[in-house]
Amino acid sequence: MKKSVFSIIGLLLIVFPIKMQAQQGFIHERSTEYDWPKEKEVLAKLDKWQDMKFGVLFHWGLYSIPGIVESWSICSEDVDWIPRDSTISYEDYKRNYYKLIEKFNPVDFNPDQWADVAKAAGMKYMLFTTKHHDGFNLFNTKQTEFSVMNSAFKNNPKADVAKYVFEAFRQKDFMIGAYFSKPDWHCEYYWWPRYATPTRNVNYSIDKHPDRWKAFQKYTYNQIEELMSNYGKFDILWLDGGWVAAPKQDIKMDSIAKMARTHQSDLLIVDRTIHGKYENYQTPERSIPEEQLPYPWESCIPLSPDWGWTPNAKFKSANTVIADLIEVTAKGGSLLLGVGPTPKGIIQPEVEVILRQIGQWLKVNGEGIYGTRITPNYKSNNVWFTASKDGKKLYALYVPNEKGSLPKSIEWENNFPVKSSPVILLKTGKKVKWVKDGNKIKIQFPGKSEISKEPLVFSFKLQK
Ligand code: GLC
Repeated sequence: MKKSVFSIIGLLLIVFPIKMQAQQGFIHERSTEYDWPKEKEVLAKLDKWQDMKFGVLFHWGLYSIPGIVESWSICSEDVDWIPRDSTISYEDYKRNYYKLIEKFNPVDFNPDQWADVAKAAGMKYMLFTTKHHDGFNLFNTKQTEFSVMNSAFKNNPKADVAKYVFEAFRQKDFMIGAYFSKPDWHCEYYWWPRYATPTRNVNYSIDKHPDRWKAFQKYTYNQIEELMSNYGKFDILWLDGGWVAAPKQDIKMDSIAKMARTHQSDLLIVDRTIHGKYENYQTPERSIPEEQLPYPWESCIPLSPDWGWTPNAKFKSANTVIADLIEVTAKGGSLLLGVGPTPKGIIQPEVEVILRQIGQWLKVNGEGIYGTRITPNYKSNNVWFTASKDGKKLYALYVPNEKGSLPKSIEWENNFPVKSSPVILLKTGKKVKWVKDGNKIKIQFPGKSEISKEPLVFSFKLQK
């Protein structure tokens, strides 16, 4: 038994060598405009979503097996960040990649563990890759054979993995989102095997072959309908691959959105980077906008350099993620943290430790994050500010420098507390001493033992 596991891993390493890992380099640009949705139900859902602040995006698929960049290695573009074995031809590489379906066998698949860990991390909403660009479906689709239902995992009672992932998170009261890639690099109506596949785009002329493109529109529509009607209640439909859009690669978003909302009336639709009525929130990627934005948005940032699982990945620290979460919240957004479950189907121990540390911090300090809204003076030195939704309280979120010693006091400009009411350090629940010095506020540290190099949150009433 051991031997065969070894030889499978050995084979995978030959075909998909470790040196091929490189940080994925294509980054979607953020739209510069935003249109508020008109539907009341959708607006209410959006407001609820804006209270959540912290979510998780799972990338899991064939690429997780050898632990390489998600999907992109089968795209033939000549860019450094798309790594591929150069000892075999592109066509052979692609064929081998598709064959990974025979190796998709997450014997330890445990979506309850994913949900437990995400809950303990203080995450409130989730997204799962039902289909990534490679076209491999992690749900039971009737539109193609290329799905988990025909993988090496097909006889497992949890073969329809998406179903069990969504159920596990629903049980823990998460908001539920389906990540779905519009481009599909396995579907013959997108990458027609008659022609080469030199780029991420459709590989034939839509003008010359309108029926083939219509078949792709129908394929996409049908898959999204399967998801929206067979997999329970959804809050978010997150469509990736912004290059597939009108006018050149029109997938008829009007009809998809209409259909999706007949099944899920208050669905948030996130047609990434396509400004308009189906981009219900914006999705800056691997970055945080420079300024506060007065409309809904979410930064998606992976915990490791890659979105999916890779061997020996270097993870961000809990304090780094917390600092991002604070900055994002003060600027009015949410943080969607990317996590890649292992080929066997669990969240690995190193990741679990980091996520639980974040959760410990949020347990004590979450009041300054969850359900907050932006406030005009949102930054002073390394202190960020958020406001409670009812506007009655302000939160000062101090992010220490990772290096150097602790300062003796924390200072900020503007945002003066009302004199008669206390400034509370959430970590201790106790009042702290403060003085006003010109246009500055100085908070004295209550005592060395209570302070460590972690972000601190103070609550107070703002002097108007
Ligand atoms: C980028 C990548 C895609 C990934 C996504 C996650 O768009 O191209 O592979 O799934 O980011 O946000």
